[in-house]
Amino acid sequence: MSSCQQNIINATSQPHDAAQVKIYHTVLWYWKLSFNFMILTLLLHSCQHDTQPVVGESAPGPSDYYAEPHRPQFHFSPEKMWMNDPNGLVFFEGEYHLFYQYYPDSTVWGPMHWGHAVSTDLVHWQHLPIALYPDSLGYIFSGSAVVDWQNTSGFGKNVQPPLVAIFTYHNTVWEKAGRADFQTQGIAYSNDKGRTWFKYEGNPVIPNPGLRDFRDPKVSWHEGLKEWIMVLSMGSHAGIYHSLDLKKWALASEFGKTEGAHGGVWECPDLFELKILGSDEKKWVMLASINPGGPNGGSATQYFIGDFNGKTFANDNPPDTALWLDYGRDNYAGVTWSDIPADERCRLFIGWMSNWEYAQSTPTQAWRSAMTLPRQLILRNTARGLRLTSMPADELLALRQVTFAADLRELNGEVDLTKDLQFPPAQMEVLLEVELIGDEKPDFGIELYNHKGESYKIGFNALANHYYSDRTLAGKAGFSGNFAAQVHTAPRIDGSRSFYLQFFFDKASAELFADWGATVMTETFFPTEDFDQVKLYAKHGKISIKKAEFYGLASIWK
Ligand code: FRU
Repeated sequence: MSSCQQNIINATSQPHDAAQVKIYHTVLWYWKLSFNFMILTLLLHSCQHDTQPVVGESAPGPSDYYAEPHRPQFHFSPEKMWMNDPNGLVFFEGEYHLFYQYYPDSTVWGPMHWGHAVSTDLVHWQHLPIALYPDSLGYIFSGSAVVDWQNTSGFGKNVQPPLVAIFTYHNTVWEKAGRADFQTQGIAYSNDKGRTWFKYEGNPVIPNPGLRDFRDPKVSWHEGLKEWIMVLSMGSHAGIYHSLDLKKWALASEFGKTEGAHGGVWECPDLFELKILGSDEKKWVMLASINPGGPNGGSATQYFIGDFNGKTFANDNPPDTALWLDYGRDNYAGVTWSDIPADERCRLFIGWMSNWEYAQSTPTQAWRSAMTLPRQLILRNTARGLRLTSMPADELLALRQVTFAADLRELNGEVDLTKDLQFPPAQMEVLLEVELIGDEKPDFGIELYNHKGESYKIGFNALANHYYSDRTLAGKAGFSGNFAAQVHTAPRIDGSRSFYLQFFFDKASAELFADWGATVMTETFFPTEDFDQVKLYAKHGKISIKKAEFYGLASIWK
Protein backbone atom coordinates (compact mmCIF):
# COMPACT_ATOMS: atom_id res chain seq x y z
CA MET A 1 0.00 0.00 0.00
CA SER A 2 1.33 3.39 -0.89
CA SER A 3 1.98 5.53 2.13
CA CYS A 4 2.82 8.64 0.14
CA GLN A 5 5.48 8.94 2.77
CA GLN A 6 8.67 9.61 0.95
CA ASN A 7 7.40 12.42 -1.14
CA ILE A 8 5.74 13.89 1.89
CA ILE A 9 9.13 13.87 3.60
CA ASN A 10 10.58 15.38 0.46
CA ALA A 11 8.04 18.04 0.02
CA THR A 12 7.74 19.14 3.63
CA SER A 13 11.48 19.39 4.06
CA GLN A 14 12.46 21.06 0.84
CA PRO A 15 16.01 22.15 1.49
CA HIS A 16 16.77 25.83 1.70
CA ASP A 17 20.48 25.88 2.45
CA ALA A 18 23.46 23.63 1.90
CA ALA A 19 23.48 22.14 5.40
CA GLN A 20 19.83 21.31 5.15
CA VAL A 21 20.41 19.78 1.75
CA LYS A 22 23.02 17.50 3.25
CA ILE A 23 20.96 16.38 6.23
CA TYR A 24 17.96 15.98 4.03
CA HIS A 25 19.83 13.80 1.58
CA THR A 26 21.38 11.69 4.29
CA VAL A 27 17.90 11.04 5.67
CA LEU A 28 16.59 10.38 2.20
CA TRP A 29 19.51 8.07 1.44
CA TYR A 30 18.90 5.99 4.57
CA TRP A 31 15.25 5.91 3.76
CA LYS A 32 15.92 4.70 0.23
CA LEU A 33 18.45 2.16 1.43
CA SER A 34 16.03 0.66 3.90
CA PHE A 35 13.24 0.81 1.32
CA ASN A 36 15.40 -1.03 -1.23
CA PHE A 37 16.42 -3.53 1.43
CA MET A 38 12.79 -4.10 2.27
CA ILE A 39 11.95 -4.67 -1.39
CA LEU A 40 14.91 -7.08 -1.75
CA THR A 41 13.79 -8.99 1.31
CA LEU A 42 10.26 -9.18 -0.04
CA LEU A 43 11.51 -10.40 -3.40
CA LEU A 44 13.74 -13.07 -1.84
CA HIS A 45 10.91 -14.09 0.40
CA SER A 46 8.48 -14.43 -2.47
CA CYS A 47 11.02 -16.52 -4.40
CA GLN A 48 10.99 -19.11 -1.63
CA HIS A 49 7.32 -19.76 -2.08
CA ASP A 50 5.47 -21.35 -4.86
CA THR A 51 3.71 -18.14 -5.78
CA GLN A 52 1.67 -17.74 -8.90
CA PRO A 53 3.86 -15.97 -11.44
CA VAL A 54 2.83 -12.44 -12.21
CA VAL A 55 3.09 -11.61 -15.88
CA GLY A 56 6.07 -9.36 -16.28
CA GLU A 57 7.59 -10.19 -12.93
CA SER A 58 9.01 -13.68 -12.98
CA ALA A 59 6.82 -15.49 -15.45
CA PRO A 60 8.94 -17.56 -17.79
CA GLY A 61 8.30 -16.37 -21.30
CA PRO A 62 9.84 -15.79 -24.67
CA SER A 63 12.65 -13.26 -24.55
CA ASP A 64 10.87 -11.09 -27.07
CA TYR A 65 7.96 -10.54 -24.68
CA TYR A 66 7.42 -6.78 -24.38
CA ALA A 67 10.51 -6.18 -26.50
CA GLU A 68 8.94 -4.66 -29.63
CA PRO A 69 10.21 -1.29 -30.89
CA HIS A 70 8.97 1.56 -28.62
CA ARG A 71 7.56 -0.84 -26.02
CA PRO A 72 7.73 0.82 -22.58
CA GLN A 73 9.59 -1.27 -20.03
CA PHE A 74 8.30 0.11 -16.73
CA HIS A 75 4.99 1.63 -17.78
CA PHE A 76 1.75 -0.26 -18.10
CA SER A 77 0.74 -1.09 -21.66
CA PRO A 78 -1.67 -3.79 -22.89
CA GLU A 79 -0.15 -6.94 -24.36
CA LYS A 80 -1.87 -6.22 -27.62
CA MET A 81 -4.40 -3.95 -29.33
CA TRP A 82 -5.88 -0.58 -28.50
CA MET A 83 -6.03 1.08 -25.07
CA ASN A 84 -7.14 4.54 -23.91
CA ASP A 85 -8.33 5.94 -20.55
CA PRO A 86 -7.65 4.31 -17.18
CA ASN A 87 -10.97 3.22 -15.63
CA GLY A 88 -12.27 1.74 -12.38
CA LEU A 89 -9.17 2.53 -10.31
CA VAL A 90 -9.82 0.91 -6.95
CA PHE A 91 -7.74 -0.72 -4.22
CA PHE A 92 -9.22 -3.82 -2.61
CA GLU A 93 -7.75 -6.64 -0.53
CA GLY A 94 -4.15 -5.79 -1.32
CA GLU A 95 -4.68 -5.25 -5.05
CA TYR A 96 -4.60 -2.11 -7.14
CA HIS A 97 -7.09 -2.57 -9.98
CA LEU A 98 -6.44 -0.90 -13.28
CA PHE A 99 -9.28 -1.23 -15.77
CA TYR A 100 -8.93 0.58 -19.04
CA GLN A 101 -10.73 1.49 -22.25
CA TYR A 102 -9.88 -1.41 -24.52
CA TYR A 103 -10.68 -2.61 -28.02
CA PRO A 104 -9.46 -6.22 -28.34
CA ASP A 105 -9.85 -6.47 -32.13
CA SER A 106 -7.72 -3.63 -33.41
CA THR A 107 -4.94 -1.17 -32.65
CA VAL A 108 -7.32 1.73 -33.28
CA TRP A 109 -10.33 2.80 -31.18
CA GLY A 110 -13.49 0.71 -31.60
CA PRO A 111 -16.30 -0.85 -29.53
CA MET A 112 -15.12 -0.22 -26.01
CA HIS A 113 -14.59 -2.89 -23.37
CA TRP A 114 -12.96 -2.61 -19.97
CA GLY A 115 -9.56 -4.31 -20.04
CA HIS A 116 -8.23 -5.32 -16.63
CA ALA A 117 -4.94 -5.66 -14.76
CA VAL A 118 -4.02 -5.88 -11.09
CA SER A 119 -0.92 -5.11 -9.10
CA THR A 120 0.07 -5.64 -5.50
CA ASP A 121 2.84 -3.05 -5.60
CA LEU A 122 1.61 -0.44 -8.11
CA VAL A 123 4.64 -1.25 -10.28
CA HIS A 124 4.29 -4.81 -11.63
CA TRP A 125 1.03 -5.64 -13.36
CA GLN A 126 -0.73 -8.92 -13.99
CA HIS A 127 -2.98 -8.95 -17.05
CA LEU A 128 -6.45 -10.35 -16.41
CA PRO A 129 -9.26 -11.23 -18.82
CA ILE A 130 -11.53 -8.46 -20.12
CA ALA A 131 -13.86 -7.37 -17.31
CA LEU A 132 -16.76 -5.71 -19.15
CA TYR A 133 -18.03 -6.36 -22.67
CA PRO A 134 -20.37 -4.15 -24.69
CA ASP A 135 -24.02 -5.26 -24.59
CA SER A 136 -27.38 -4.20 -26.02
CA LEU A 137 -27.21 -0.89 -24.13
CA GLY A 138 -23.94 0.07 -25.79
CA TYR A 139 -20.16 0.19 -25.63
CA ILE A 140 -18.61 0.43 -22.17
CA PHE A 141 -17.07 3.89 -21.91
CA SER A 142 -15.01 5.33 -19.09
CA GLY A 143 -15.99 5.18 -15.45
CA SER A 144 -14.91 4.27 -11.96
CA ALA A 145 -15.16 1.53 -9.32
CA VAL A 146 -15.66 1.58 -5.57
CA VAL A 147 -15.74 -0.85 -2.68
CA ASP A 148 -19.28 -0.75 -1.29
CA TRP A 149 -18.12 -1.37 2.29
CA GLN A 150 -21.58 -1.07 3.83
CA ASN A 151 -23.32 -2.95 1.06
CA THR A 152 -25.57 0.03 0.33
CA SER A 153 -26.26 -1.51 -3.08
CA GLY A 154 -27.25 -4.90 -1.72
CA PHE A 155 -24.88 -6.57 -4.20
CA GLY A 156 -22.69 -7.96 -1.40
CA LYS A 157 -22.55 -11.71 -0.77
CA ASN A 158 -21.50 -13.72 2.28
CA VAL A 159 -20.83 -10.58 4.30
CA GLN A 160 -18.20 -9.52 1.77
CA PRO A 161 -18.45 -5.98 0.35
CA PRO A 162 -18.95 -5.98 -3.42
CA LEU A 163 -16.87 -4.04 -5.89
CA VAL A 164 -19.18 -1.81 -7.91
CA ALA A 165 -18.20 -0.38 -11.29
CA ILE A 166 -20.00 2.70 -12.59
CA PHE A 167 -19.52 3.40 -16.31
CA THR A 168 -21.04 5.04 -19.36
CA TYR A 169 -23.06 3.11 -21.90
CA HIS A 170 -22.51 4.55 -25.37
CA ASN A 171 -25.34 3.38 -27.61
CA THR A 172 -24.18 3.59 -31.22
CA VAL A 173 -27.53 2.44 -32.60
CA TRP A 174 -29.21 5.45 -31.02
CA GLU A 175 -26.32 7.68 -32.01
CA LYS A 176 -26.64 6.60 -35.64
CA ALA A 177 -30.40 7.11 -35.49
CA GLY A 178 -29.67 10.78 -34.77
CA ARG A 179 -30.75 10.72 -31.13
CA ALA A 180 -28.92 12.94 -28.65
CA ASP A 181 -29.52 10.73 -25.61
CA PHE A 182 -27.19 7.85 -26.51
CA GLN A 183 -24.95 8.07 -23.43
CA THR A 184 -26.33 6.75 -20.12
CA GLN A 185 -24.76 5.50 -16.89
CA GLY A 186 -24.73 1.85 -15.90
CA ILE A 187 -23.38 -0.22 -13.02
CA ALA A 188 -21.95 -3.72 -12.56
CA TYR A 189 -20.73 -5.59 -9.51
CA SER A 190 -18.25 -8.27 -8.56
CA ASN A 191 -18.13 -10.58 -5.55
CA ASP A 192 -14.80 -12.17 -6.35
CA LYS A 193 -12.22 -9.37 -6.22
CA GLY A 194 -13.06 -8.08 -9.68
CA ARG A 195 -12.58 -11.38 -11.52
CA THR A 196 -16.20 -11.74 -12.68
CA TRP A 197 -18.73 -9.00 -13.17
CA PHE A 198 -22.52 -8.90 -13.31
CA LYS A 199 -24.29 -6.02 -14.95
CA TYR A 200 -27.21 -4.67 -12.92
CA GLU A 201 -30.56 -5.62 -14.46
CA GLY A 202 -31.93 -2.13 -13.72
CA ASN A 203 -29.42 -0.44 -16.06
CA PRO A 204 -29.17 2.32 -17.04
CA VAL A 205 -29.16 3.88 -13.58
CA ILE A 206 -29.01 7.42 -14.96
CA PRO A 207 -30.89 8.09 -18.19
CA ASN A 208 -29.64 10.78 -20.51
CA PRO A 209 -31.02 14.28 -19.89
CA GLY A 210 -30.65 15.24 -23.58
CA LEU A 211 -26.90 15.81 -23.78
CA ARG A 212 -24.69 14.37 -26.51
CA ASP A 213 -21.78 14.35 -24.06
CA PHE A 214 -22.90 12.77 -20.80
CA ARG A 215 -20.25 10.42 -19.55
CA ASP A 216 -17.30 9.24 -17.46
CA PRO A 217 -18.85 8.92 -13.94
CA LYS A 218 -16.35 9.04 -11.08
CA VAL A 219 -17.90 7.92 -7.81
CA SER A 220 -16.71 8.21 -4.23
CA TRP A 221 -18.14 7.85 -0.74
CA HIS A 222 -18.74 11.12 1.10
CA GLU A 223 -18.18 10.33 4.75
CA GLY A 224 -19.81 13.54 6.02
CA LEU A 225 -23.00 13.09 4.00
CA LYS A 226 -23.00 9.29 4.24
CA GLU A 227 -23.83 9.31 0.55
CA TRP A 228 -22.21 8.43 -2.72
CA ILE A 229 -21.23 11.36 -4.88
CA MET A 230 -20.60 11.20 -8.60
CA VAL A 231 -18.95 13.73 -10.87
CA LEU A 232 -19.37 13.29 -14.61
CA SER A 233 -18.99 15.15 -17.86
CA MET A 234 -21.98 17.14 -19.15
CA GLY A 235 -20.48 18.50 -22.33
CA SER A 236 -18.27 21.45 -21.55
CA HIS A 237 -18.75 21.31 -17.77
CA ALA A 238 -19.26 18.79 -14.96
CA GLY A 239 -22.36 17.49 -13.20
CA ILE A 240 -22.48 16.32 -9.59
CA TYR A 241 -24.96 13.59 -8.65
CA HIS A 242 -25.61 11.87 -5.32
CA SER A 243 -27.05 8.53 -4.25
CA LEU A 244 -27.64 6.38 -1.18
CA ASP A 245 -27.36 3.02 -2.90
CA LEU A 246 -25.44 3.49 -6.19
CA LYS A 247 -28.67 2.70 -8.07
CA LYS A 248 -30.89 5.76 -7.66
CA TRP A 249 -29.12 9.00 -8.47
CA ALA A 250 -30.19 12.66 -8.31
CA LEU A 251 -28.50 15.70 -9.80
CA ALA A 252 -27.08 17.93 -7.06
CA SER A 253 -25.41 20.68 -9.09
CA GLU A 254 -23.38 21.59 -12.14
CA PHE A 255 -19.97 23.19 -12.20
CA GLY A 256 -17.75 24.87 -14.73
CA LYS A 257 -19.89 26.40 -17.43
CA THR A 258 -17.92 29.60 -17.06
CA GLU A 259 -14.84 28.35 -15.20
CA GLY A 260 -11.47 27.17 -16.41
CA ALA A 261 -10.51 26.19 -19.95
CA HIS A 262 -13.16 25.39 -22.58
CA GLY A 263 -11.19 24.63 -25.71
CA GLY A 264 -13.01 21.30 -25.95
CA VAL A 265 -15.40 18.92 -24.23
CA TRP A 266 -14.77 18.11 -20.57
CA GLU A 267 -14.11 14.42 -20.03
CA CYS A 268 -13.21 12.10 -17.17
CA PRO A 269 -13.65 14.47 -14.20
CA ASP A 270 -12.67 13.49 -10.66
CA LEU A 271 -13.55 15.10 -7.33
CA PHE A 272 -11.75 14.46 -4.04
CA GLU A 273 -10.63 16.07 -0.82
CA LEU A 274 -6.97 16.51 0.11
CA LYS A 275 -5.05 17.89 3.04
CA ILE A 276 -2.79 20.80 2.25
CA LEU A 277 0.73 19.63 2.85
CA GLY A 278 2.11 20.87 6.16
CA SER A 279 -1.28 21.93 7.55
CA ASP A 280 -4.50 20.41 8.80
CA GLU A 281 -6.57 22.36 6.33
CA LYS A 282 -8.33 20.43 3.60
CA LYS A 283 -9.50 21.47 0.17
CA TRP A 284 -11.50 19.82 -2.57
CA VAL A 285 -9.94 19.27 -5.97
CA MET A 286 -11.74 18.72 -9.26
CA LEU A 287 -9.92 17.28 -12.25
CA ALA A 288 -11.39 17.81 -15.71
CA SER A 289 -9.68 16.57 -18.84
CA ILE A 290 -10.43 18.56 -21.98
CA ASN A 291 -10.06 17.66 -25.60
CA PRO A 292 -8.91 19.69 -27.43
CA GLY A 293 -7.70 22.86 -25.70
CA GLY A 294 -4.61 21.75 -23.74
CA PRO A 295 -1.82 24.27 -23.09
CA ASN A 296 0.36 22.75 -25.83
CA GLY A 297 -2.51 21.64 -28.06
CA GLY A 298 -4.83 18.66 -28.10
CA SER A 299 -5.85 16.76 -24.98
CA ALA A 300 -4.85 17.76 -21.44
CA THR A 301 -6.09 17.77 -17.85
CA GLN A 302 -7.02 20.90 -15.93
CA TYR A 303 -7.89 21.11 -12.25
CA PHE A 304 -9.74 23.36 -9.81
CA ILE A 305 -9.18 23.86 -6.08
CA GLY A 306 -12.07 24.89 -3.88
CA ASP A 307 -14.77 23.81 -1.47
CA PHE A 308 -17.48 21.22 -1.78
CA ASN A 309 -20.45 21.34 0.61
CA GLY A 310 -21.80 17.98 -0.45
CA LYS A 311 -23.88 19.52 -3.20
CA THR A 312 -21.95 22.27 -4.98
CA PHE A 313 -18.30 22.84 -5.77
CA ALA A 314 -17.03 26.43 -5.37
CA ASN A 315 -13.81 27.36 -7.15
CA ASP A 316 -11.27 29.34 -5.08
CA ASN A 317 -9.71 30.95 -8.14
CA PRO A 318 -11.08 33.56 -10.53
CA PRO A 319 -13.27 31.85 -13.17
CA ASP A 320 -10.83 32.47 -16.01
CA THR A 321 -7.94 30.71 -14.23
CA ALA A 322 -6.80 27.53 -15.99
CA LEU A 323 -4.53 25.28 -13.94
CA TRP A 324 -2.89 22.31 -15.65
CA LEU A 325 -1.94 19.06 -14.03
CA ASP A 326 0.65 18.36 -16.70
CA TYR A 327 1.91 20.58 -19.52
CA GLY A 328 3.15 17.75 -21.71
CA ARG A 329 1.11 16.50 -24.64
CA ASP A 330 0.77 12.97 -23.32
CA ASN A 331 -1.17 12.77 -20.10
CA TYR A 332 -4.90 12.57 -20.61
CA ALA A 333 -8.08 11.31 -18.92
CA GLY A 334 -6.18 10.56 -15.71
CA VAL A 335 -8.10 9.89 -12.49
CA THR A 336 -7.30 8.73 -8.95
CA TRP A 337 -7.57 5.45 -7.07
CA SER A 338 -10.53 4.89 -4.83
CA ASP A 339 -10.37 3.21 -1.41
CA ILE A 340 -6.68 3.64 -0.71
CA PRO A 341 -6.52 3.09 3.08
CA ALA A 342 -6.57 6.50 4.75
CA ASP A 343 -3.78 8.78 3.83
CA GLU A 344 -5.35 12.14 3.37
CA ARG A 345 -2.19 13.84 2.16
CA CYS A 346 -2.05 12.44 -1.31
CA ARG A 347 -4.11 10.70 -3.98
CA LEU A 348 -2.71 8.09 -6.33
CA PHE A 349 -3.22 9.01 -9.97
CA ILE A 350 -2.56 7.49 -13.38
CA GLY A 351 -3.25 8.95 -16.83
CA TRP A 352 -3.34 7.76 -20.41
CA MET A 353 0.03 8.61 -21.98
CA SER A 354 -1.25 9.83 -25.32
CA ASN A 355 -3.23 12.57 -27.01
CA TRP A 356 -6.34 12.22 -29.16
CA GLU A 357 -4.67 14.38 -31.78
CA TYR A 358 -2.46 11.46 -32.87
CA ALA A 359 -3.21 8.54 -30.50
CA GLN A 360 -4.56 6.28 -33.24
CA SER A 361 -1.64 6.67 -35.61
CA THR A 362 1.43 6.37 -33.38
CA PRO A 363 4.02 3.98 -34.87
CA THR A 364 3.61 0.86 -32.73
CA GLN A 365 2.58 -2.49 -34.11
CA ALA A 366 1.14 -5.04 -31.71
CA TRP A 367 -0.43 -2.61 -29.24
CA ARG A 368 -1.18 1.07 -28.98
CA SER A 369 -0.36 3.40 -26.08
CA ALA A 370 0.63 3.16 -22.44
CA MET A 371 -0.31 4.69 -19.10
CA THR A 372 1.76 7.37 -17.36
CA LEU A 373 3.74 6.38 -14.29
CA PRO A 374 1.55 6.16 -11.20
CA ARG A 375 1.76 9.48 -9.35
CA GLN A 376 1.01 10.99 -5.98
CA LEU A 377 -1.07 14.15 -6.14
CA ILE A 378 -0.21 16.53 -3.31
CA LEU A 379 -1.72 19.95 -2.52
CA ARG A 380 1.05 22.35 -1.76
CA ASN A 381 1.50 26.08 -1.18
CA THR A 382 3.82 27.42 -3.89
CA ALA A 383 5.18 30.81 -4.91
CA ARG A 384 2.00 31.21 -6.98
CA GLY A 385 -0.47 30.00 -4.39
CA LEU A 386 -2.01 26.62 -3.72
CA ARG A 387 -1.24 24.09 -6.43
CA LEU A 388 -1.91 20.43 -7.12
CA THR A 389 1.55 18.92 -7.54
CA SER A 390 2.45 15.48 -8.89
CA MET A 391 5.29 13.26 -7.78
CA PRO A 392 6.18 9.77 -9.01
CA ALA A 393 4.73 7.14 -6.66
CA ASP A 394 7.20 6.03 -3.96
CA GLU A 395 6.85 2.43 -5.11
CA LEU A 396 8.86 3.25 -8.24
CA LEU A 397 12.01 3.40 -6.11
CA ALA A 398 11.98 -0.39 -6.26
CA LEU A 399 12.88 -0.23 -9.96
CA ARG A 400 16.29 1.37 -9.40
CA GLN A 401 19.03 -1.10 -10.25
CA VAL A 402 22.28 0.57 -11.14
CA THR A 403 23.35 4.05 -10.06
CA PHE A 404 25.81 6.50 -11.47
CA ALA A 405 26.49 9.83 -9.77
CA ALA A 406 28.23 12.31 -12.07
CA ASP A 407 30.74 14.50 -10.27
CA LEU A 408 30.02 17.74 -12.09
CA ARG A 409 30.26 20.94 -10.13
CA GLU A 410 29.78 23.47 -12.85
CA LEU A 411 28.66 23.02 -16.38
CA ASN A 412 29.10 25.38 -19.29
CA GLY A 413 28.61 23.56 -22.57
CA GLU A 414 27.85 19.86 -22.69
CA VAL A 415 29.12 16.63 -21.23
CA ASP A 416 28.50 13.22 -22.75
CA LEU A 417 27.84 10.64 -20.04
CA THR A 418 27.08 7.64 -22.25
CA LYS A 419 30.29 5.79 -21.37
CA ASP A 420 29.83 6.36 -17.65
CA LEU A 421 26.44 4.72 -17.51
CA GLN A 422 26.40 0.96 -17.25
CA PHE A 423 22.83 0.85 -18.51
CA PRO A 424 20.78 2.08 -21.46
CA PRO A 425 19.73 5.72 -21.10
CA ALA A 426 16.48 4.88 -22.87
CA GLN A 427 15.32 3.24 -19.63
CA MET A 428 16.41 5.39 -16.74
CA GLU A 429 15.59 7.87 -14.03
CA VAL A 430 17.64 11.03 -13.50
CA LEU A 431 17.75 13.29 -10.44
CA LEU A 432 19.20 16.72 -11.03
CA GLU A 433 19.81 19.41 -8.48
CA VAL A 434 20.93 22.61 -10.09
CA GLU A 435 21.53 26.16 -8.98
CA LEU A 436 21.63 29.27 -11.07
CA ILE A 437 24.79 31.37 -10.78
CA GLY A 438 24.74 35.19 -10.57
CA ASP A 439 22.99 36.76 -13.54
CA GLU A 440 23.47 33.77 -15.82
CA LYS A 441 20.40 32.88 -17.87
CA PRO A 442 21.29 29.38 -19.05
CA ASP A 443 19.34 26.87 -21.06
CA PHE A 444 20.07 23.50 -19.46
CA GLY A 445 18.80 19.97 -19.61
CA ILE A 446 19.24 16.40 -20.77
CA GLU A 447 19.62 15.25 -24.34
CA LEU A 448 19.05 11.67 -25.46
CA TYR A 449 20.30 10.76 -28.91
CA ASN A 450 21.23 7.92 -31.25
CA HIS A 451 23.59 7.35 -34.18
CA LYS A 452 20.77 8.08 -36.64
CA GLY A 453 21.09 11.75 -35.78
CA GLU A 454 17.82 11.76 -33.83
CA SER A 455 17.67 13.49 -30.48
CA TYR A 456 15.26 14.48 -27.74
CA LYS A 457 15.84 17.35 -25.30
CA ILE A 458 14.10 18.19 -22.08
CA GLY A 459 15.17 21.06 -19.85
CA PHE A 460 14.77 24.60 -18.60
CA ASN A 461 15.26 27.93 -20.33
CA ALA A 462 16.06 30.60 -17.75
CA LEU A 463 15.57 33.50 -20.14
CA ALA A 464 12.01 32.45 -20.89
CA ASN A 465 11.53 31.03 -17.38
CA HIS A 466 9.99 27.87 -18.74
CA TYR A 467 10.60 24.16 -18.94
CA TYR A 468 10.47 22.59 -22.36
CA SER A 469 10.30 19.28 -24.17
CA ASP A 470 11.77 19.21 -27.66
CA ARG A 471 10.79 16.18 -29.73
CA THR A 472 11.05 18.02 -33.06
CA LEU A 473 14.06 15.90 -34.08
CA ALA A 474 13.31 12.79 -32.05
CA GLY A 475 12.52 10.36 -34.89
CA LYS A 476 9.28 9.23 -36.53
CA ALA A 477 6.81 12.06 -36.79
CA GLY A 478 5.10 11.70 -40.16
CA PHE A 479 2.12 9.88 -38.64
CA SER A 480 0.66 13.21 -37.52
CA GLY A 481 1.19 16.71 -38.90
CA ASN A 482 1.41 18.27 -35.50
CA PHE A 483 3.27 15.65 -33.48
CA ALA A 484 6.72 17.17 -33.79
CA ALA A 485 5.91 20.62 -35.12
CA GLN A 486 6.85 22.63 -32.04
CA VAL A 487 8.84 22.63 -28.85
CA HIS A 488 6.38 22.27 -25.96
CA THR A 489 6.75 24.54 -22.96
CA ALA A 490 5.59 24.76 -19.35
CA PRO A 491 5.82 27.81 -17.09
CA ARG A 492 7.92 27.50 -13.95
CA ILE A 493 5.75 27.90 -10.84
CA ASP A 494 8.58 27.90 -8.34
CA GLY A 495 10.56 31.13 -8.10
CA SER A 496 13.73 29.90 -6.38
CA ARG A 497 17.24 29.71 -7.84
CA SER A 498 17.53 26.02 -6.95
CA PHE A 499 16.02 23.30 -9.06
CA TYR A 500 15.04 19.82 -7.97
CA LEU A 501 14.24 17.84 -11.11
CA GLN A 502 13.24 14.23 -11.52
CA PHE A 503 13.15 12.68 -15.01
CA PHE A 504 11.99 9.26 -16.22
CA PHE A 505 12.78 7.96 -19.68
CA ASP A 506 11.22 4.75 -20.93
CA LYS A 507 12.03 3.96 -24.57
CA ALA A 508 9.36 6.20 -26.08
CA SER A 509 8.48 8.61 -23.27
CA ALA A 510 9.84 11.24 -20.91
CA GLU A 511 8.30 12.46 -17.67
CA LEU A 512 9.64 15.52 -15.90
CA PHE A 513 8.63 16.30 -12.31
CA ALA A 514 10.12 19.75 -11.74
CA ASP A 515 10.26 21.68 -8.47
CA TRP A 516 8.73 18.86 -6.45
CA GLY A 517 6.08 18.27 -9.05
CA ALA A 518 4.85 21.88 -9.31
CA THR A 519 5.48 21.74 -13.07
CA VAL A 520 5.08 18.42 -14.85
CA MET A 521 5.62 17.41 -18.47
CA THR A 522 4.81 14.01 -19.97
CA GLU A 523 5.76 13.46 -23.60
CA THR A 524 6.12 10.54 -26.00
CA PHE A 525 8.51 10.19 -28.96
CA PHE A 526 9.41 7.47 -31.44
CA PRO A 527 13.09 7.24 -32.43
CA THR A 528 13.81 4.81 -35.27
CA GLU A 529 16.30 3.17 -32.89
CA ASP A 530 16.42 3.49 -29.11
CA PHE A 531 18.26 6.50 -27.78
CA ASP A 532 21.48 4.94 -26.55
CA GLN A 533 23.50 8.06 -25.77
CA VAL A 534 23.01 10.86 -23.27
CA LYS A 535 24.35 14.35 -22.61
CA LEU A 536 23.84 16.99 -19.97
CA TYR A 537 24.04 20.49 -21.36
CA ALA A 538 24.07 24.13 -20.24
CA LYS A 539 24.04 26.67 -23.06
CA HIS A 540 24.13 30.48 -22.94
CA GLY A 541 25.42 30.47 -19.38
CA LYS A 542 26.75 28.13 -16.75
CA ILE A 543 24.99 26.23 -14.00
CA SER A 544 26.09 24.84 -10.70
CA ILE A 545 25.25 21.14 -10.35
CA LYS A 546 24.65 19.97 -6.81
CA LYS A 547 23.60 16.52 -7.83
CA ALA A 548 23.34 14.51 -11.03
CA GLU A 549 22.26 10.93 -10.32
CA PHE A 550 21.35 8.40 -12.97
CA TYR A 551 19.51 5.17 -12.26
CA GLY A 552 19.11 2.26 -14.64
CA LEU A 553 15.56 1.01 -14.08
CA ALA A 554 14.41 -2.60 -14.18
CA SER A 555 11.84 -3.77 -16.68
CA ILE A 556 8.55 -4.77 -15.07
CA TRP A 557 7.85 -7.27 -17.86
CA LYS A 558 10.94 -9.50 -17.74
C1 FRU B 1 -11.67 10.17 -23.08
C2 FRU B 1 -12.88 9.50 -23.68
C3 FRU B 1 -14.02 9.44 -22.67
C4 FRU B 1 -14.83 8.29 -23.16
C5 FRU B 1 -13.77 7.35 -23.67
C6 FRU B 1 -14.19 6.54 -24.85
O1 FRU B 1 -10.48 9.83 -23.70
O2 FRU B 1 -13.29 10.17 -24.84
O3 FRU B 1 -14.76 10.64 -22.55
O4 FRU B 1 -15.60 7.72 -22.13
O5 FRU B 1 -12.65 8.14 -24.01
O6 FRU B 1 -13.25 5.57 -25.15
